[in-house]
Amino acid sequence: MQKWARLNFQPALPLRGDRRVTGSSEHIAVSRKAAQEGMVLLKNDGTLPLSSDKKLVLMGKAAVDYVKGGGGSGDVYCAYIHSLYYGLKSKGVSVYEPLIDLYKEEMKKQYDSGRVPGMTEEVPVPADILKDAAAFSDTAIVMICRFSGEGWDRSSIECNQEFNPWPQSRSMPSFSSEIFPDGDFYLNAGEKEMIKAAKENFKNVIAVLNVGGIIDCSFIAGDDAINAALYMNQGGMEGGDAAADIILGEVNPSGKLADTFAARLEDYPSTENFHESFDYVEYTEDVYVGYRYFETIPGARDKVIYPFGYGLSYTTFDITVTGAKELEDSFSFDVKVTNTGKASGKEVVQLYYKAPQGKLGKPERALGDFVKTKELSAGESQDITLTVTKKAIASYDDLGKVADACYVLEKGSYEFFIGNSVRDAKNTDFTWENAEDITVERLSHKAGPVSLKKRMISDGSYEELPLGAARDINECVFEKMEPGTEEALTPFVRSREMHYLTRPFKEGAKTFFDVAEGKVTIDEFMAQLSDEDLIHLVGGQPNTGVGNVFGMGNLPEYGVPNAQTADGPAGVRIAPETGVLTTAFPCSTLIACTWNREIAEQIGCAGGEELKENNLCVWLTPAINIHRNPMCGRNFEYYSEDPYLTGRMAAAMVRGIQSNNVGASVKHFACNNKETNRKHSDSRVSERALREIYLKAFEIIVKEAEPYTIMSSYNAINGHRASENRDLLTGILRDEWGYKGMVTSDWWTRGEHYKEIKAGNDLKMACGFPDRVKKAMEMGAITRADIEPCAKRILTTILKFD
Ligand code: BGC
Repeated sequence: MQKWARLNFQPALPLRGDRRVTGSSEHIAVSRKAAQEGMVLLKNDGTLPLSSDKKLVLMGKAAVDYVKGGGGSGDVYCAYIHSLYYGLKSKGVSVYEPLIDLYKEEMKKQYDSGRVPGMTEEVPVPADILKDAAAFSDTAIVMICRFSGEGWDRSSIECNQEFNPWPQSRSMPSFSSEIFPDGDFYLNAGEKEMIKAAKENFKNVIAVLNVGGIIDCSFIAGDDAINAALYMNQGGMEGGDAAADIILGEVNPSGKLADTFAARLEDYPSTENFHESFDYVEYTEDVYVGYRYFETIPGARDKVIYPFGYGLSYTTFDITVTGAKELEDSFSFDVKVTNTGKASGKEVVQLYYKAPQGKLGKPERALGDFVKTKELSAGESQDITLTVTKKAIASYDDLGKVADACYVLEKGSYEFFIGNSVRDAKNTDFTWENAEDITVERLSHKAGPVSLKKRMISDGSYEELPLGAARDINECVFEKMEPGTEEALTPFVRSREMHYLTRPFKEGAKTFFDVAEGKVTIDEFMAQLSDEDLIHLVGGQPNTGVGNVFGMGNLPEYGVPNAQTADGPAGVRIAPETGVLTTAFPCSTLIACTWNREIAEQIGCAGGEELKENNLCVWLTPAINIHRNPMCGRNFEYYSEDPYLTGRMAAAMVRGIQSNNVGASVKHFACNNKETNRKHSDSRVSERALREIYLKAFEIIVKEAEPYTIMSSYNAINGHRASENRDLLTGILRDEWGYKGMVTSDWWTRGEHYKEIKAGNDLKMACGFPDRVKKAMEMGAITRADIEPCAKRILTTILKFD
């Protein structure tokens, strides 16, 4: 096939042989495998697994109101969606049907009235049905589900002033206020009633949580009447089948939590000011995010219901450290894992470290490495090695207490812990005694705060931070566009006057094919382009084929194709009216809970293939913002509260995607940790927390997997919009980490195009503003030399597509 034939001609050709891979059984099998490995068994007194001839009562409308993933750009259109009810039935399990019929009927009514799966009211169970159900079986599965999505947080607060093309439709926060008056973190009255009824009428009660984020699990942990619980998460199109596989013991659960589950929202330090302001968020908990907070801050330990890294199995494992050593730049630990139980299964071995408190203060535990074993049969062992580099355990000194703007290893004892959760990890007895402070990396201050007044330190108190002059976020050489007027605009379609047969390219042009074939350099190619051509290149391009989130390139007179993007991350999002249905994978949080890099890579590879088969080039995947607070509406799209787990899992995903010569787009760079006023809110965060928590996963991915593209976020960081933030996009990303790829904005930012170009945001999506860039050029605010590197990075990216 000719280079870029798929981009230029959009052929309806299968990727391999004569069978399409999009939505194929092979890809759906990958989705199901991931779902099986990422579901977490939270509790089990031996009730699970169930035998398949056990009759079951499914209680809770979630039995049929299955939520496969979250909403917004992360939603995917697939051929079918299997609930737990479906999964159990397809295995021949006898389920009490009258209740299912009631739920189906009620859900239909609620969907017809504008509700969506997960945003529905619980259905009261009439006494006669309950009595009949109790006579049918002694075992009930109680189901809870939740839905959240892009553009709103998990609360009833109306949170955005974004352009709304459907003004008549009701907002999700308004539904939420009706369904979850106390917030959807907590069970609502209907759910409590349903669980009470289950406990009163059934000997065995198993809870199943079809929830992409965290909810209050005290009703499980604190109550012996709930015998077992499975955190099913949002498992994609075959999530219900995967949960049934686990419940019936056909698959031994091996998922581990990617977040700390506490009982109350207020137990998370970031809750206090989550909604303090529409215009900013103060990240006062600093590096004490997730388990770093709960394991460190006095009094916080007891608030944890299920700790980070936790998850049960139907078997037991022995984890023995057989050796530990210091190498030149790292530490390595040899571990023997033995399956000591009766069922075969997999275990996740986790390495944590504890750095000395020193002058900077440190979390009591931080994840250094993890390995998931192969499937071990009863009695079988596996030897594994875990390593962590010295650079990884260093801390960033942003106040010059040890060495200003440097990563430092403070003097003192470094301890290491190994086990199968942050709580169960045991001290390895290997301690590294560091005799003196060591500077590991010398950097410079970048993207620092000017308005963050204080931050938490390791004893739970706060230290004051120096303040600077606040910036005008909207500063511009001419009048800013009114917020909202930039929304949902589509790029121009440029006409061209060429003779189709005799002059396919501009007279005398060096074509982009010449560049691809090595006949001319990219610089020679660019030298012939006018300023207008360059400005055209740095803006998004019209949709073609099945694309719906726009493209890049598109200079046909020079042979530059229009390369289309597509949304993710739970699958390739193609609009349903095209007739193309793709594979819906589990949500990213579930993928993180697999702690299995191979699975992440397989999903990436399958998604990359579907992208390519449909003539698309960049998958707007993975989304890797940190789970700072359970309320963030897009947490389901993100991996974890921990940057190391996030970075390693998502790097594998990027490798899988790009093995197809299509691009990943790692998003949203950075600190897009809430959806409320996401296009304008300022994330105020210390340099240390930025580098150690919020940028870390991006750094890991850039260094490990070289993503073709990174998407900057809508929000501001310390007074600069991320897309206009030169410290972030050029200083840190390129100069420090050596990133060679391209940066796009998020779609329809409030950033000013010429400022984004100057910051190193190469491509403005979904469309550029050529007239405004031109005007800025005429006013001397930007030059051709500023635009050239951006255009060059876009062209270089397109050259990678085959
Ligand atoms: C989202 C991105 C998404 C883009 C394109 C934005 O609103 O924040 O994650 O990729 O739209 O749909």
